[in-house]
Amino acid sequence: MKTIIEPFRIKSVEPIYFNTKEERTKILKKAHYNPFLIDSNDVLIDLLTDSGTNAMSSRQWAGMMNGDESYAGSPSYYRFKDAVQNITGMEFIIPTHQGRASEKILFSLVGGKGKYFISNTLFDTTRANIEFSGAEGIDLVCEEGKHPAVPAPFKGNMDTVVLKKVIKEKGAENIPMVIITITNNSGGGQPVSMKNIREVSKICKQHKIPLFIDCCRFAENAYFIKLREKGYGKKQVIDIAREMFTYADGATMSAKKDAIANIGGFLALRSKLLAQEARNLLIITEGFPTYGGLAGRDLEAIAIGLEEVVDESYLQYRIRSIEYLTEKLHNAGVPVMRPAGGHAVYLDAKEFLKHIPVDQYPGQAMCCALYEEGGIRAVEIGSLMFGKYDEKGKLIPSKLELVRLAIPRRVYTQSHIDYVAEVIIEVFKNRKKYKGLVITEEAKLFDTLRQN
Ligand code: F0G
Repeated sequence: MKTIIEPFRIKSVEPIYFNTKEERTKILKKAHYNPFLIDSNDVLIDLLTDSGTNAMSSRQWAGMMNGDESYAGSPSYYRFKDAVQNITGMEFIIPTHQGRASEKILFSLVGGKGKYFISNTLFDTTRANIEFSGAEGIDLVCEEGKHPAVPAPFKGNMDTVVLKKVIKEKGAENIPMVIITITNNSGGGQPVSMKNIREVSKICKQHKIPLFIDCCRFAENAYFIKLREKGYGKKQVIDIAREMFTYADGATMSAKKDAIANIGGFLALRSKLLAQEARNLLIITEGFPTYGGLAGRDLEAIAIGLEEVVDESYLQYRIRSIEYLTEKLHNAGVPVMRPAGGHAVYLDAKEFLKHIPVDQYPGQAMCCALYEEGGIRAVEIGSLMFGKYDEKGKLIPSKLELVRLAIPRRVYTQSHIDYVAEVIIEVFKNRKKYKGLVITEEAKLFDTLRQN
């Protein structure tokens, strides 16, 4: 098979500002070893997130000129609504400025003390919004999903046996909703199978619990189903995506991911009553229901992005580029989560920096090493992000210590990815020389949101 090439040509470019290792050592120190505090101009390859960092197409930029900025009833809203309905099949489409705004509205309405939200894995803003409402979040990812090195096709699946048990324990009346995150970002960008979505939906229906999808990366998940699930190989990705949504009562979306836009989100609902309540909150927090927190031009970009993201040559290139980096690293002996996820490569920091104990944050140490050696910015997804303290102030570590290299959509080419692999392999060869870190100062509000 020939090389899978980027299915686009580049019309507009942005410079990368080169710096030296000596300069980066100083920059890192000044940022208190927190890459979130580094200026983006000081980063060579920015893999902090795939969120809002997408390169829009010429069609999206052209579409932005058609944005109608009317306060109410903008045709841009109707194009946006049609595009979202075309995929989700849901009646009520509420635009928001990004995913977490949808979450805030949703959990303000259905959350509260004594309630439980069950998920495969909640993303950190989702969990924080749930906890802020007074409710609790419970993650029930399947067993395979807990072992980074064990390959399995759908490591994002929810454990349905434990789901039934937890519903019994907590009582269905105390569970306002079950949420499936596709792909499972905090669990390695791993997909959820259609079979699993169907099973979870059946269990939810039996107990009259609504099922919601956190659908930020729905197209990547649908493409994995096409590649890996029996019976879906010949189906179109758009139809696979549509089927996924048929099992759900609602969805939250960050358009900064699989709508290939730079900002935006939505809440999609089947319930008229919930939609009315959500729109009331929308008006006092985001804006009028036909623009939410967005400009008309953003609604246009999202509508076009949602069409482009289900293009199969785009998805083939997208998924392959993540797999390409994963394979290169694996072949060099680097401990990397397998199989490759949909939007990011995840390194197993516990294995990678075995000599650094978890209370010295091996993932963060690795992020610092990647920046210092090669100007690469990654994010720790481990005890720094998810760790908590017990009553004595001792760290309760996260189950996994991962480092995420999230690949922005349509931004970097194969030579950038080759360079990233070279830097990681070099850091891996010299791994013994890196040291752990301590937290000297942190915000108090949410320990789930430490890095922000
Ligand atoms: N849900 C998931 C699964 C996410 O990955 C994100 C964002 C959100 C919700 C919130 O959306 O950023 O538009 O408010 N994830 C980004 C990331 C920040 O880097 O993974 P948002």
